[in-house]
Amino acid sequence: MPRVLIAGCGYLGEATAGLFVTRGWQVEGWTRSTEAVQRLSAKSYSARAVDLSDRAAVMACKTNFDAVIHCASTRGGDVDLYRQLYLEGARNLVARFTAAKLLFVSSTSVYAQTGGESVTEESPAEPTHPAGRVLREAEQLALEHDGVVARLAGIYGPGRSFLLKSLRAGDAVIDPHNDRLLNQIHRDDAATALVLLSAQRSTRGEIFNVVDDQPIRQSECYRWLAAKLNRPLPSVGSLPAKRKRGWSNKQVSNTKLRGLGWVPQYPTFAEGMENSVLATYEL
Ligand SMILES: NC(=O)c1ccc[n+]([C@@H]2O[C@H](COP(=O)([O-])OP(=O)(O)OC[C@H]3O[C@@H](n4cnc5c(N)ncnc54)[C@H](OP(=O)(O)O)[C@@H]3O)[C@@H](O)[C@H]2O)c1
Repeated sequence: MPRVLIAGCGYLGEATAGLFVTRGWQVEGWTRSTEAVQRLSAKSYSARAVDLSDRAAVMACKTNFDAVIHCASTRGGDVDLYRQLYLEGARNLVARFTAAKLLFVSSTSVYAQTGGESVTEESPAEPTHPAGRVLREAEQLALEHDGVVARLAGIYGPGRSFLLKSLRAGDAVIDPHNDRLLNQIHRDDAATALVLLSAQRSTRGEIFNVVDDQPIRQSECYRWLAAKLNRPLPSVGSLPAKRKRGWSNKQVSNTKLRGLGWVPQYPTFAEGMENSVLATYEL
């Protein structure tokens, strides 16, 4: 039975762990907190609190794995925290699990393009913000160790959609001067991508964008949601000029991932919202 470590068994990690179990893998999930381990205790895989930015704690792990997925998130924080978790975390994993295939979960925020252009894995990934540059360093490390990099778009799914949340909270704004294209991915489609990228041999040393089929303008998302939920449209205003990973405006392509046979269950935001997310929200 192949073994996988999900280092960062949170919103996406948990969905991915469940999928691996159904495919016959033996799974171990790591979280930072013991509270999260408690929450995972009813699952059909083991969970442990191991701080992956702590070299000694990672080196003390007794089990070996075929695949290791770095899927932990700082949930914000400054560049030092990014460095500790993403870069040092990845370094610790490659130091301990020398024989495993490392999958580093990165972000499409590394593409700083602002002209609405189409972006593939071959396009420049030159983030202007320090947090994005740390992600690039961690990506490079994974590639140098023959690992694979998954650049994920904004994750949404059951219980999570920042657009829906801000619309419901009344703090959504439509900025006609900054009506960006949003690139998104449903959590369950991201999970199938991570399983595929871990299992396929040909993905070693490669980068893959993990994004649905259709980028959508922010205003369009809000209009769709407002109509669906019978709520007023957000007011017109200005979005903050600065953002940690930088404002970008681009259409991220999933052609390379689709070339592996990956088929998203929710190819558009509307389909994901309609068929999965809205049913789980109390409207
Ligand atoms: N959210 C997005 O839109 C988005 C977009 C692009 C890429 N990504 C990437 O996708 C991945 C998954 O994101 P997510 O939304 O599933 O994150 P999440 O729900 O916040 O879960 C993060 C997980 O990482 C664990 N963790 C945090 N620090 C850790 C540490 N030092 N050692 C061990 N575990 C640690 C957390 O444990 P605790 O619960 O105990 O804190 C939690 O289980 C991340 O790599 C993130 O950067 C996310």
